[in-house]
Amino acid sequence: MKFFLDSAILGEIETVYAAGVCDGITMNPSLVKKAVDEMKSRGEKASLENYIKRALTIAKGTPVSLEVTELEAKGMVKQGKTLYKKFNPTAKNVYIKIPVNPQFEGEKGKEFDGVIAIKELRKAKIPVNCTLIFTPEQALAAAKAGANFVSPFAGRIDDLLRKNSGVEFDKTDYFPAGGIVEEDEQKSDNGIVSGVDLVAQTVQIFRNYGIKTEVLAASMRNARQVRECALAGADIATMDFGTFKEIFSHKLTMDGMKKFTQDTPEEFKKLV
Ligand code: E4P
Repeated sequence: MKFFLDSAILGEIETVYAAGVCDGITMNPSLVKKAVDEMKSRGEKASLENYIKRALTIAKGTPVSLEVTELEAKGMVKQGKTLYKKFNPTAKNVYIKIPVNPQFEGEKGKEFDGVIAIKELRKAKIPVNCTLIFTPEQALAAAKAGANFVSPFAGRIDDLLRKNSGVEFDKTDYFPAGGIVEEDEQKSDNGIVSGVDLVAQTVQIFRNYGIKTEVLAASMRNARQVRECALAGADIATMDFGTFKEIFSHKLTMDGMKKFTQDTPEEFKKLV
């Protein structure tokens, strides 16, 4: 399974690439806003264009997803092509992120705009990551349209299920892959019992049909969720910097290090 960093913060991107542990980057408008706000708070004047180009250069050789903000197929295609033209020459690693369906609640007639945009961009040989996926059938539709990656948002499904059940939680709390059962009733979002279940069902459907589109488990909230997505067969997991670090951590690893350090005999230290 590939590990992607879900961040637009240069310091975080530099750290994971310098360690050689990162296989790609995903950004979205909220993450770019966070990076811009951080830049402003430090009084930095760097242009966003140069900032993104620096991120692309650091991540050279691995995919970086940049998301469109337009809300109709035509606009998404135009913006996707512009983003690709502007940024892909930097390190040839840009993927355009397209929402599976850009319509807002209550809006009508845009159900197919996401897949129309995917098809158009793929026709122009632009790689696409289809985002904001909350059902396996959305993932299937995006794959059929030619998306290279589909991004089921596991953590946000868990948030929804907990909210519907009135469970209080912190963002990084573990959510059981088997979901919530109350008074013998299995809670679900239209048959999806957890974020990991969403990823697992998507992987299973892709296997049933030999679909090559990669399943990018997104909205990861903790290391155990990443493990369960790996067990389910996800190709990629994208996670924030905190979850990235958590993957490498265990209390007993730290305890072991402390004890080994205390026990190291002077004679050994002299040898090395
Ligand atoms: C994926 O590409 C998204 O940027 C991301 O994983 C969303 O995660 P969130 O639910 O933590 O915002």
